Amino acid sequence: MADPQSIERARAGFLDELRRAVSDADLQAVRDKYLGRKSGLITALLKAVAAAPAGERPRLGRLANELKQDIEAKLTERREALESAGPQVEPVDVSLPGREPVIGHRHPLAMMRERIEGIFLRMGYEVVEGPELEDDYHNFEALNMPPDHPARDMQDTLYLAQPVRSRSHTATLLRTHTSGMQIRYMEAHPPPVRILAPGRVYRRDNLDLTHTPMFMQFEGLVVAEDITLADLKGTLAAFAHELFGAATKVRFRPSFFPYTEPSAELDITCTSCGGAGCAVCKRSGWLELLGSGMVHPAVFEAVGYDPERYTGFAFGMGIERAAQLKYGVDDIRLFYESDLRFLEQFPL
Ligand code: DAH
Repeated sequence: MADPQSIERARAGFLDELRRAVSDADLQAVRDKYLGRKSGLITALLKAVAAAPAGERPRLGRLANELKQDIEAKLTERREALESAGPQVEPVDVSLPGREPVIGHRHPLAMMRERIEGIFLRMGYEVVEGPELEDDYHNFEALNMPPDHPARDMQDTLYLAQPVRSRSHTATLLRTHTSGMQIRYMEAHPPPVRILAPGRVYRRDNLDLTHTPMFMQFEGLVVAEDITLADLKGTLAAFAHELFGAATKVRFRPSFFPYTEPSAELDITCTSCGGAGCAVCKRSGWLELLGSGMVHPAVFEAVGYDPERYTGFAFGMGIERAAQLKYGVDDIRLFYESDLRFLEQFPL
C-alpha cells in the first residue's frame, strides 16, 4: 500500500539509520535497505505507487520520487563527509571490563644481591661500584698478574676492538672479575677499608648449565693494621650462616689466587642433602661457595699501602652461584631467560 503516511514513515526510518551510520559499510547497508534493486523499501514503494488508483498516482509518485532523490542526496553527502573526516575510530565500549595489571616483583638475582649487601652492610661494610669497561692494569696487573702471568688464563677475557676512553681511564677489556675494585678503592682511599663491590663481570664462556658470558659477582675487601686469617674465617663463616642458615657447616680449602697469600676457597655443606652426599654435591657433601685469601703484599705495593704496616683479606663470589645453591637451581641460564614461570617461583 502506498500512501503519504507510509512514505513519511520510510523517510523517518531512513533518517534515523543514517544518523547511526559511522562507516562506509554502514552507509552501504542503509543504501541496500532503501534503494536496493530487488528488495529496497523505496523500490517496493514505487511499485506500490504504480498499482495505486489512477487519481492518486501522480501525487504519490511525486512524493515517492522526491523521497528517493532525497535519500540519494543524503547518502552521497554523508559518504563525502566520512571521507573527508579520515579513518574512523572504533567507538569505545565503556561497559567492557578493565584489564587487570600484572604485578611484578624483584628478579631473583636482584633479591640475592640485596640480601648479600644487607648482610655485609650490617657488618659495617660500605657498598661501592665501579666500571665494567676496565683496563688491563686494574683487572690484572695491579692484582699481581703481570702481562705474561699464567693466572690470566684462569679466565678467558673479552677484549674491546678499540680502547674506550673515559674520564678516569682507558678501557681495553670487559672486567673478568670484580677484584679490580680492590685496586680502584685503595687507590682513592687510605686505610682502613671495609667494602663490598657488587657488579657484572664478563668472560669468554659458552652458555651451559654453569656458565653465562655475563654474570654477577661481589668482591669484599677488608684492610687495617691488624687483620688476620681469623678475621677472614670468622667473617665468611658468619656470612655463610646468615645466607644459608645456622645449621650450615663451612670448611676452608687451600687454593691459589695471585692477589692473595695464603688463598682459600670456602665450601658449605650441600644445600640439597645437608652434607650426607647426593647428586648435587657429587656425593661429597660439600659445595664450593667462594674464593678468598689474605691480600698479597704486591697488591698493597701497587696502591701505595705499606705492606709492613697493613694486612687485609679479600673474597669474591658469583651471585648467580649463591642463588643457585640457595634455591636449588641447576641451570644458571634460567636467570637470564626472562621466563615468568621460573621467575615467579621466588619468594618476595
Ligand atoms: N676473582 C676471583 C674469581 O673471579 C674470586 C676471588 C678469589 C676474589 C679470591 C678474591 C679472592 O678477592 O681473594 O674467581
